[in-house]
Amino acid sequence: MQRNTLGLVHTFLERHVKPGAFCIDATAGRGRDTALLCQLAGRKGRVLAFDVQPEAVAQTRALLAKEGLEAEVVLDSHSHMADYADKGTADCIVFNFGRLPGGDPKIFTTAKTSIPAIDAGLTLLAPSGVMCLALYYGGENGYEEKNAVLSHLKSINDRAFTVLSCDWLNRPNDPPMPIFIWKE
Ligand SMILES: C[S@@+](CC[C@H](N)C(=O)[O-])C[C@H]1O[C@@H](n2cnc3c(N)ncnc32)[C@H](O)[C@@H]1O
Repeated sequence: MQRNTLGLVHTFLERHVKPGAFCIDATAGRGRDTALLCQLAGRKGRVLAFDVQPEAVAQTRALLAKEGLEAEVVLDSHSHMADYADKGTADCIVFNFGRLPGGDPKIFTTAKTSIPAIDAGLTLLAPSGVMCLALYYGGENGYEEKNAVLSHLKSINDRAFTVLSCDWLNRPNDPPMPIFIWKE
């Protein structure tokens, strides 16, 4: 396993996402997470992906086409994800916050939509469903989203969900934090 956030998140996904699963990639970006979810869920699974940037939707669709994979890639905010799926049906939801690599550095996720999106995702999770988040901060993003999301996650009902937050304590340059949530 790669000792970085993406490596940890992908190892977690490989362990939890089974063939036939219904998965949501809340931040499609360049499509790498969407592609992994498609591979893990397989032909009988369903993968729904969101991004607010047409460039990201196009990049994700192009990657899927190149790899012979299929997903519903939607140009919409992840805060609207409950309009696209039934409550209690998602096996796995992935958030990779921050900005589109190589894209406009001024467009990035913000607490204003990230927190409603997390809450919408929690309502969509099936029993034993999982959510994983890579929480970027510093640089153009600043610390507002990180602080608001962490504070919000602390308020989640501990009888309904387990929330594990990890931090790279001795690494420089604000590496993203991996966060894992299990629905009981
Ligand atoms: C770090 S990138 C995601 C990387 C991606 N998962 C991958 O594998 O390449 C973050 C993405 O979140 C998108 N984003 C920002 N605000 C959003 C929102 N409200 N809803 C959905 N996507 C959003 C950005 O456009 C950007 O493409």
